[in-house]
Amino acid sequence: MKNNTWSGRFIKGIDSDVLDFSQSLSVDLVLYDVDIRVTEVHVEMLYKCKHLTKSDFQKIVSGLKKVRKLADSGKLPWSVKLEDVHMNIENSLVKIIGPVGKKIHLGRSRNDLVTTDLRLYLRELSEFIIIRLRNLRFSLAKLAKVYSSDLFPGYTHLQIAQPVVFGHHLLAWAEMFARDEKRIENTMSLMNPLPLGSAAMSGTSLKIDRKFVAKKLGFASVSNNSMDAVSDRDYVIDLAYSNSMIMMHLSRVCEEIVLWMNPQFNLIDLDQGFCTGSSIMPQKKNPDVAELVRGKTGSVYGNLVGLLTLMKGLPLTYNRDLQEDKEQIFTSVDTTLSCIEIICKMIPTIVLNKQRASELSGTSFSTATDIAEYLSLKGMPFREAHHLVGKIVKYCEDKHCSLGEIPESEFQKFSSLIETDIYKKIIPSNTVKMRTNKGDTAPKLVEKEASILIKALKKYEQK
Ligand code: ARG
Repeated sequence: MKNNTWSGRFIKGIDSDVLDFSQSLSVDLVLYDVDIRVTEVHVEMLYKCKHLTKSDFQKIVSGLKKVRKLADSGKLPWSVKLEDVHMNIENSLVKIIGPVGKKIHLGRSRNDLVTTDLRLYLRELSEFIIIRLRNLRFSLAKLAKVYSSDLFPGYTHLQIAQPVVFGHHLLAWAEMFARDEKRIENTMSLMNPLPLGSAAMSGTSLKIDRKFVAKKLGFASVSNNSMDAVSDRDYVIDLAYSNSMIMMHLSRVCEEIVLWMNPQFNLIDLDQGFCTGSSIMPQKKNPDVAELVRGKTGSVYGNLVGLLTLMKGLPLTYNRDLQEDKEQIFTSVDTTLSCIEIICKMIPTIVLNKQRASELSGTSFSTATDIAEYLSLKGMPFREAHHLVGKIVKYCEDKHCSLGEIPESEFQKFSSLIETDIYKKIIPSNTVKMRTNKGDTAPKLVEKEASILIKALKKYEQK
């Protein structure tokens, strides 16, 4: 089979297996709309620069409209024989308007076209990611408000460390996703500049107006170097990295959900719709969604490593290897979007086991630091107080009692600074209330932070 795109210097057609092997239509079909948009602006520029007559320009524009209509309605006869989406669009146009359609490729190449399309497409996908992240933060903020005064054990080294309120923990997750949102925004800004006009790799002998094209397509600038422009895929890797960060955060969230659901922790319950049973053990209620998201994280990292590896040995400029970027980044985005979405849906179904959480928050001498701070406030240097409270904890371990069960007379033996008001100071519900500096876990602060976030995100809420 002969390929009209480049078969001028060929006597023989492409081997059919090679065609199957090398076609990218099955992956890049999704670019059809941006490809048509880019072509519309490109021909407008060609007309403006007097490389197309008015009548040719008009024919092409109306032809492109028809191509888009056919594609939108699923009636465009896509053919893998034409290799990719770009050649399919051009061919369909020629079929509709005749040979004048063959003029659209003047002053450009697929090398600059494909990366222009991809930049636009990834910019749009990035907007979806941002919307999903906002929804997720909104769900977290709403749940944080509900649980803004309920005690929860805070962990370090996966051992109970200090009491917090559950809302504080949920807002910690929201912080991660706020950074992710910023990261995606930054990634979007790196999707500039416009590569179109770099043509195959050295530019074009035609006088063209690249700034016009950039402005119309929403690019902030035009590329400085045609060789770099056709071979740069940094923006693809940046997005793959940003997705990996999102997945890393989701995976951490999921790990905690799995732990808290574990009957030994018994801290939360999830709606049954988000759990599965076992085919043999009738008693099981497993947090499979969280486990799957944690598991899918690996494949999103894989896409990042795949893309980095794809690029590492490429000499300037375009190499066909670059065609492989799309499958990896599209998979990365698809997986990330679906994971954010499902977790966003699962978050509101979290039900805190308040009694268990409150009990656990007071175990493991979790308010020992508060005794040290109490002593420090009465003048004892903190390091000394820390040492003394260490001894108090050891005493409790030996006597199998909690800090609150130590008789006042025993406290006094450790230090005369410890008076009867100590008992109030080491009740978890009081210790959280004392943490009132910016960023602390005091219920009224958590409630306020959650409300601010809800207010800020409400306007983005999905109807
Ligand atoms: N489908 C190809 C891609 O996605 C475009 C091929 C362009 N250039 C070439 N010299 N074969 O990269």
